[in-house]
Amino acid sequence: MSGITLQNITKRFKTETAVDDVSLSIQDGEFVVILGASGSGKTTILRIIAGLEVQTTGHVFIGDVLVDDYEPRDRNIAMVFQSYALYPHLSAYDNIAFGLRVRRIPREDDPDRDRHLTHQEIDGKVRGVSQMLGIAEMLQKRPSELSGGQRQRVALARAIVRDPEAFLLDEPLSNLDAKIRSNARIELKRLHQRLRQTFVFVTHDQTEAMTLGDRLAIVNHGRLLQCDTPERTLSHPLNQFVASFVGSPEMVFLEGNVESTGGGFTFVKGPVRIPVRGTGSPGAVTIGLRPWDIRVEKASTPGTLSGRVTGVERLGSSDQLFLDVASPPGASPTTPAAPVSLRALVRAYDFDVGDGVFVGFDPDRALFFNAEGGRLESMSISSPLP
Ligand SMILES: Nc1ncnc2c1ncn2[C@@H]1O[C@H](COP(=O)(O)OP(=O)(O)OP(=O)(O)O)[C@@H](O)[C@H]1O
Ligand SMILES: [Mg+2]
Repeated sequence: MSGITLQNITKRFKTETAVDDVSLSIQDGEFVVILGASGSGKTTILRIIAGLEVQTTGHVFIGDVLVDDYEPRDRNIAMVFQSYALYPHLSAYDNIAFGLRVRRIPREDDPDRDRHLTHQEIDGKVRGVSQMLGIAEMLQKRPSELSGGQRQRVALARAIVRDPEAFLLDEPLSNLDAKIRSNARIELKRLHQRLRQTFVFVTHDQTEAMTLGDRLAIVNHGRLLQCDTPERTLSHPLNQFVASFVGSPEMVFLEGNVESTGGGFTFVKGPVRIPVRGTGSPGAVTIGLRPWDIRVEKASTPGTLSGRVTGVERLGSSDQLFLDVASPPGASPTTPAAPVSLRALVRAYDFDVGDGVFVGFDPDRALFFNAEGGRLESMSISSPLP
């Protein structure tokens, strides 16, 4: 087992830069999820680690070893592809045993010479891993006779018996239906806890990323935007892209302006006016709020804005409310402004469309971004809503 280090990796295909100066250190035994939209360079990063693609510039280390010039088979890394890439004409057993049959190991009586594994050794490994993954009963079936989840386990079993330095998994759960997928996620996490080997897992699904990863590496247009624990990517996103990409339902963004008001600063968006501090100059600013940090109440309390429920999305255990927020209660707006749309996550069935409500939020939870999407760490809300 080994960690993996990418040092300033760039990959260009003709005119296109698929991976753009990515540096990333994955610890031995860590589960890192590479998360990004389609075309963001995730598969290319995995293929470079595996040696299936050669980087244009930069270096790959497995453990302490520089492997830039190593062939894929000499890197001893197992890759599980989205399609599983099983041999259709071979049984599950033979698919799992395939790599073991061609492998050579040093001879016990003469370490300078090597030998194939014996039939019993191969059988022991195949049956051991099949027991562990719950596919021992279906080893004689061909891939076409297996369900998606079973095929995925055969592909994993084939990777595990190789006893690789690390596992690279390219969206291995994406063609499973929702329920199997959720179980497969839990199984995969358990498997990692049992094997304690390095896993690099690619997905575009942020829920999957959150539940699986020790850390998330969030990529966009080939660039690594942030690599952090799931919790940190939620609470301390480095930029607006990360803030919007992680967290479900998605973060609410209020695009407004900071205006200079009598010695202080106020964020203004339509009827919403929020005193802020930490800004040097007025200008365009976006406030980000998690839907679960927005409070919706039936009665007015200090620091709430009046609003109306315009839509309800019933999610099962909670509801997402779509809200139009107007001026603070009691205030007489000098110029009537269009209401501001927000979303809030609340307890299921507490509200209905058309309900008049009062909306507040914890000022400490608001994040600020500049016009380019960069995080403004020094800015904060200076007092509760008026
Ligand atoms: N062999 C290739 N030749 C030319 N361009 C390529 C090649 N492989 C990938 N690309 C381009 O590089 C970019 C990144 O591709 P990549 O497959 O790494 O994305 P991805 O994040 O895995 O996407 P998806 O989620 O759709 O699988 C894409 O724009 C793609 O068109
Ligand atoms: Mg891909």
